[in-house]
Amino acid sequence: MHIPVLTIDGPAGAGKGSIACMLADKLGWHLLDSGAIYRVAALAALRRSLSLHDEAALTAMISKLNIEFKNGEAWLDGQKVTADIRNEACASATSQIAVLPNVRAALLQLQRNFRQLPGLIADGRDMGTVVFPDATHKFYLTASAEIRAERRLKQLSEQGLSAKLCDLIQDINARDERDSNRPVAPLKPADDAVVIDTSPLTQAEVFAEVLRHIS
Ligand code: C5P
Repeated sequence: MHIPVLTIDGPAGAGKGSIACMLADKLGWHLLDSGAIYRVAALAALRRSLSLHDEAALTAMISKLNIEFKNGEAWLDGQKVTADIRNEACASATSQIAVLPNVRAALLQLQRNFRQLPGLIADGRDMGTVVFPDATHKFYLTASAEIRAERRLKQLSEQGLSAKLCDLIQDINARDERDSNRPVAPLKPADDAVVIDTSPLTQAEVFAEVLRHIS
């Protein structure tokens, strides 16, 4: 049976996560936050003090992990890790292990298992290019590094956390560089993706634009 998938790819902070949630709510479809899967794997590596370059050890570790998502929470081997995977150190470690082809291969089926009726909204970097190349609709959201860093700063301050804008811009640029230049599944729009530059748009405008394309 063909199960519809709508993919949303793009760099960190382009607004993919919020738009994906809004779409999943509106359509009543399942949601895959593929970045969270990579983040849980990176957290497990950090906790075991594994080298982030040791592809064989990382792949062996991943094959034994129990990664689950229940009611919006991420679980690693039966322990809730939702907050632990969201800091910048984990994000940076994540983009380092995500360059390794065998790490990506080890996480592929876990992501594809989310494709269940009535449909799936998949958010990530390679959803439309690698994980679900036959997706029904593909979107690629982007925005300038400065705008993305400003959004992240606002998000952090809403959580009572502080950060420097210049540090956030540096982190975002380093992550973009690694995600875009890796040989396997690099960050890029699928040939058949609708590309939306969200820099000048509000969240409601981006959502309306996506809905206009799928209606
Ligand atoms: O989307 P999020 O910021 O949570 O992703 C964290 C990191 O995980 C990204 O910077 C990227 O290196 C990696 N990732 C990936 N492929 C995906 C999703 C995330 O390589 N589909």
